[in-house]
Amino acid sequence: LGRNIIYFDQIDSTNNYAKRIALEGCEEGTLIVADCQTSGRGRLGRDWNSANKKGIWMSLVLRPDIPFEEVQMLTLAASVAVVQALYEVAEIKAGIKWPNDIIINGKKVCGILVEMNMEIESINFLVLGIGVNVNQQKEDFSEELSDKATSLKMHLEELGIQKILKRTQLIAAILLKFEAIYDKVKCGDFGYIISEWKKHSVTLGREVSIIYKDRQYRGIAQDITKDGKLIVKCEDGTVKEVFSGEVSVRGL
Ligand code: BTN
Repeated sequence: LGRNIIYFDQIDSTNNYAKRIALEGCEEGTLIVADCQTSGRGRLGRDWNSANKKGIWMSLVLRPDIPFEEVQMLTLAASVAVVQALYEVAEIKAGIKWPNDIIINGKKVCGILVEMNMEIESINFLVLGIGVNVNQQKEDFSEELSDKATSLKMHLEELGIQKILKRTQLIAAILLKFEAIYDKVKCGDFGYIISEWKKHSVTLGREVSIIYKDRQYRGIAQDITKDGKLIVKCEDGTVKEVFSGEVSVRGL
């Protein structure tokens, strides 16, 4: 993965570009990296703040031969890879909020946006977009975001650590970690991903609010299934398995 890299100093969104070239047939593992995105996108149609050289804004084109139901595993795998890479490069201990937000001390430092293109019953391609806040200072975040977002630099400074993080080094580490796990997803070996995900989860054991069949429920996130669904014990006593969709964790 990442042997073919396309770099931009500015682009609308690396996910948009990756989708375009994937449709034209680019090879699996092609990586799009930009210093700045003018229309960076988050999940659920939100904007993603992608200021110049402040973070890692990248998208990977994947062509896994897996059924649709297993795509969820890839998004969990990507969050595991990011957490492992942050620890390896800077000994940063980050957590994972369901399904794939990376959190440090309750604030989001990385988001993952997976988009796919289906052919009849199979996946044609999948774009894995990863955004990591690396160099932002507090002033770089809007008032609304400053309660919810942080950067690796801000976190290290809070710990009194003066370390310059190189984005290229982090990108390489994320790709290497992801490559190892991606091979497991492709051969249906999910045990390691689930156990790593659980190890780093900040969602399990917490109160969550979920949308299930268009209704909202409150409950406690108890576990994840072998195929990556969140198991929630709801206030009404029922137990629900949530495949995707929004889960908000209280107090985070
Ligand atoms: C989220 O948590 O809402 C997902 C954020 C994903 C952001 C990344 S940055 C690189 C790629 N290009 C985009 O436009 N979005 C993703």
